[in-house]
Amino acid sequence: MVIKTADFICSNTQISKLPPPLKPEYAFIGRSNVGKSSLINMLTQKKGLAKTSQTPGKTQLINHFLINENWYIVDLPGYGYARISKSKKEDWNKFIRSYLDKRESLQCVMVLIDSRLEPQKIDLEFCNWLGEKGLPFITIFTKADKQSNIKTDQNIAKFRKALLASFEEAPQFFITSAENLLGRDEVLNFIDSINQG
Ligand code: GTP
Ligand code: MG
Repeated sequence: MVIKTADFICSNTQISKLPPPLKPEYAFIGRSNVGKSSLINMLTQKKGLAKTSQTPGKTQLINHFLINENWYIVDLPGYGYARISKSKKEDWNKFIRSYLDKRESLQCVMVLIDSRLEPQKIDLEFCNWLGEKGLPFITIFTKADKQSNIKTDQNIAKFRKALLASFEEAPQFFITSAENLLGRDEVLNFIDSINQG
């Protein structure tokens, strides 16, 4: 898929103010600092479209970006950021989970996982919650440039094996790097195949 245009549309804290659910949309989610915003910029090839930061907790709103005037990428705040209060975490949980659960135009949840890490409980729990809700999702392993391919493959294999405790099949997965375009065509082709129906 060729990205001709990628435009910031809006940031929201209120679900009632989201754009009308009339175009297919793909939500990017995962632990704080996993690289959601960086991946969105890499996919769209538009630096600075989504705000990135070395400090976790940068993205705090539901951000809609319109692609080729006909589908949305949604950048979400990360989960598991230790340095926020318990009540803020609960607010996040309610807000994001109700968006994911109720958004009619959501085609697929893109769960980002840090390819450098062994399976993390919080990521597995989040995937299990998506499964319980019957929400379609795939996994995207980020930051693959940061270690050897062998290490990446080992971590992915462990994560997929852990998912098999609750799923009959592990979901589709992609390996990406925001530094070198790894996985860009694959992720965009995946989205294109859903958009084409
Ligand atoms: P929150 O919005 O805080 O939840 O974070 P996020 O998941 O949007 O992460 P963000 O894209 O802001 O990236 C976090 C940090 O990781 C930044 O310093 C990025 O430069 C770095 N980063 C993200 N993706 C990659 C990658 O593929 N490779 C490398 N080497 N660094 C990356
Ligand atoms: Mg972000």
